[in-house]
Amino acid sequence: MVDVVGVYGQPPSDLADVPRDAVQFSPLIPGSASLDRQPAASLNAMTLLAPPGTIERRYALAQALRALKPGAPLVALAPNDRGGTRLRKELEAFGLDVNETAKRHHRIAAAARPAKLAGIDDAIAAVIADGGPRFDDEIGLWTQPGVFSWDRLDPGTAMLIEHLPDLSGRGADFGCGIGVLARAVLANGSVGELTLIDIDRRAIECAQHNLDTPRARFLWIDLRDPHPELVNLDFVVMNAPFHDAGQEDKGLAQAFVRRAAESLRKGGVCIMVANRHLPYEAVLRPLFKAVKPVIETGGYKIYEARK
Ligand SMILES: C[S@@+](CC[C@H](N)C(=O)[O-])C[C@H]1O[C@@H](n2cnc3c(N)ncnc32)[C@H](O)[C@@H]1O
Repeated sequence: MVDVVGVYGQPPSDLADVPRDAVQFSPLIPGSASLDRQPAASLNAMTLLAPPGTIERRYALAQALRALKPGAPLVALAPNDRGGTRLRKELEAFGLDVNETAKRHHRIAAAARPAKLAGIDDAIAAVIADGGPRFDDEIGLWTQPGVFSWDRLDPGTAMLIEHLPDLSGRGADFGCGIGVLARAVLANGSVGELTLIDIDRRAIECAQHNLDTPRARFLWIDLRDPHPELVNLDFVVMNAPFHDAGQEDKGLAQAFVRRAAESLRKGGVCIMVANRHLPYEAVLRPLFKAVKPVIETGGYKIYEARK
């Protein structure tokens, strides 16, 4: 079997050595391999910038252990205030012997996958079941811990659904998540095609379950990059993200707005809900012919912008 070394996320290079040819497994990097689908006992080593959500992090650690060969090294690191201080205990709960170091406000936990997983494979299976994709009876949708608003309806999304205008033709949902907003858009029979776009593979896969219709197309891409195939759209809807890797990033939603302006035909419309305290109007005005604030309430604001 070919020797495969894995990496999850982008660990700072001064904190962990990752070979240049390491295979990327983060679901937040389009084009990456899927750790869930990696065969058991197939990886020679794994370095993981552990995600901040507890269930999501334990899931990624469990999947990494499952995929590592017996005796293969695992290095997991995270900022102290984003799960780092919990890493050691979480790995010990899988029966691992952990060597922990601290550097630049991160914890770095190193361990080897035990030669035999017997005894810990139940713990791994339980954590994988807890963090994997599932149909959630309460929200009535496929979802997975770690994706945006995975177990509740986001208030911004709810507000946008309530104020959706009568859309028709070909459109896109920028940052579709598990497809809550897209379902409301596609409930309108005048919408012929909706392209659901997200940077998170897990979200796209849940959305594919949630929108089993030939009128839906799915793209796992980063909207900050240009995508020439996104042209001539009649409309774009979005609940724009304003966090990247857990940090507030106004530039992200602004990049979404610019991409929307590029993707719409003349006269096409962009409907977006945004956090009220963020300055979107200044970005919308020069790119669109008409910008109309639709409603502002409860910390959110909806804009309708026409090309
Ligand atoms: C605020 S959520 C909205 C999700 C969904 N539309 C809803 O209303 O429930 C924003 C979504 O944008 C996605 N996202 C963040 N950065 C992105 C990027 N650079 N390119 C594409 N999608 C991105 C996130 O993964 C997240 O699912």
